[in-house]
Amino acid sequence: MAIGSKLPHVGTTIFTVMSRMASEEGAINLSQGFPGFGADPVLLELVGKYTRDGYNQYPPMSGIPQLRRRLAEKTELTQIYFPDPETEVTIVSGATEALFSAVTAVVRPGDEVVLLEPAYDSYEPAVTLNGGVPVYVPLNAEDFSVDWERVEKALSPKTRLIMVNSPHNPSGYVWTEEDIDSLATLVRDRDIYLVSDEVYEHITFDGRKHISLGSHPELRNKTFVCGSFGKTFHVTGWKIGYCIAPSDMTVEFRKIHQFLTFTTVTPIQYALAEYLEEPNRYLSIPAFYQSKRDLFAGGLTRTGLIFTPARGSFFQLASYGHLSQIGDRELAERMTRRLKVACIPVSVFYSDRRDDKFIRFCFAKEEAELFEALERLQGLPEIL
Ligand SMILES: Cc1ncc(COP(=O)(O)O)c(C=O)c1O
Repeated sequence: MAIGSKLPHVGTTIFTVMSRMASEEGAINLSQGFPGFGADPVLLELVGKYTRDGYNQYPPMSGIPQLRRRLAEKTELTQIYFPDPETEVTIVSGATEALFSAVTAVVRPGDEVVLLEPAYDSYEPAVTLNGGVPVYVPLNAEDFSVDWERVEKALSPKTRLIMVNSPHNPSGYVWTEEDIDSLATLVRDRDIYLVSDEVYEHITFDGRKHISLGSHPELRNKTFVCGSFGKTFHVTGWKIGYCIAPSDMTVEFRKIHQFLTFTTVTPIQYALAEYLEEPNRYLSIPAFYQSKRDLFAGGLTRTGLIFTPARGSFFQLASYGHLSQIGDRELAERMTRRLKVACIPVSVFYSDRRDDKFIRFCFAKEEAELFEALERLQGLPEIL
């Protein structure tokens, strides 16, 4: 009996492939997006404390009230609006779950969903598994900003949802106020929902500020804001995130969440609730990453690669088309095997795998590791 795949185009993701290759080759792994340093010992201690104190059974389905309140307070401090912790905030098992549940809550068979490319790899499967039809719109080639005319042209009476991501993976682009206003104008008189992937909300550079779609009074009524404590506090393996959405949308979101995971790990929820009492723990994150971004971008100028320093996220994109026409997958493999530095070929973020000769590095690593990687990347001309 043949199972008949629901996702025939999905294989092992490039992130797994490159991380495996990096480990086989003893390469510095700048491919997958996870921090190469530990979390704050205070947070680790809190998890230990709550585990030992017996906070180990199912918590409430929508998340413990303390954590929902702290998150609402954080949102008020950073985005100047206070979502109702009771009816508008849900704690889930990572942003991946938030994105999947939000898409599932609104997308019906035949609905069209606009995806801006390059796009994070979990969006498309979430759409197709729900019978939705992805409609791809490329971002501007120069800086990965949004081409609003193209987005407008992609809309149809069947458009049900637009998925957006800022700060953006893989490009590091951060939406401006104008971007948000353009989106608001576009969806003003249309019945279109928005899923806003904001997992890098606390990683922005050069004085830029992340603007949540939730902070916009009109967009707030149409948007599922999806976030990740894992990304913010350097604990990606904990898989804990959240969704903020208006109460009627949250009712539907929770119906999905309830039967997908029901809830998420109890002692970590208590630990985060206590940890978030001190706002500096997230307000200090931009400065922490700025020095890494500066160090990496500074060193990259000596490699011959062309790039614009990332405006946000912990990824640096770089192009090599002026140096060589080899495929980006081939370059990533050569770099891993011969220079012992792993990166991600950006073609994997496009539905048609188009290859614009970009590679992506993750600079969420210890300084010594970044220095060593930059040293090795000096050998780039030898492998092109
Ligand atoms: C843009 C983007 N969205 C979502 C996620 C997933 O977040 P989480 O680990 O909280 O599920 C990632 C992780 O790499 C990401 O880069």
